[in-house]
Amino acid sequence: MNLLHIDSSILHGDSVSRDLSAQVVAALAARHPGLQVKHLDLATTPLGHLTQAHLAAQQGAPAPAGQEGDLAAGQQALADFLAADVVVIGAPMYNFGVPSQLKAWLDRLAVAGQTFRYGEQGPVGLCGGKKVIVASSRGGQFSDGSPLAAMDHQEAHLRAFFGFLGIQDLSVVRAEGLAMGPAVREQALASAQARIAELAAA
Ligand SMILES: Cc1cc2nc3c(=O)[nH]c(=O)nc-3n(C[C@H](O)[C@H](O)[C@H](O)COP(=O)(O)O)c2cc1C
Repeated sequence: MNLLHIDSSILHGDSVSRDLSAQVVAALAARHPGLQVKHLDLATTPLGHLTQAHLAAQQGAPAPAGQEGDLAAGQQALADFLAADVVVIGAPMYNFGVPSQLKAWLDRLAVAGQTFRYGEQGPVGLCGGKKVIVASSRGGQFSDGSPLAAMDHQEAHLRAFFGFLGIQDLSVVRAEGLAMGPAVREQALASAQARIAELAAA
């Protein structure tokens, strides 16, 4: 079984999403001996923003001079995603969405003919069978019932994106309200720990 571990927080050391994604991976590794884990840190090795050259290269055009490294990194990112059975993503909320580093990675995965295609009935995702686990961290609270729920363009984006690729098996380990004082923060971290234990036991 192949596990792809993605981190995208720009914070190191005291990042909650990094801590939670690492705990999810450790729990799954304990549960599945022989698990092959590949880690990609998008904050330390970011992919460039999508350009016309990337789109052309995805359809087989040669890389323009100077962009070979970034194009190869994007192709490797896609290959790693395609090879993964499980993808664990550390995804903080930044400005109501995902970090731009994570968005740049998503942009390299949505490749027509490889991860999705359009048919007469509309889009068809080609990645069914994979499992995605999102380790989500947020300063505020956006879960269902919150007055701010409509401002969640982080988890909602990831759910829509991977659903578009045909992945229905998406779980979230969520720590939210982290900036709302020590009691809420402690409760959020405890709730995330409980969710990790639940996922590991499933
Ligand atoms: C650049 C930046 C933007 C943020 N934007 C939001 C936001 O829009 N909504 C929110 O609830 N929290 C926001 N936060 C708080 C983070 O979601 C929170 O600190 C979270 O723990 C970050 O994940 P990390 O600890 O893995 O870095 C922001 C934090 C940073 C650094």
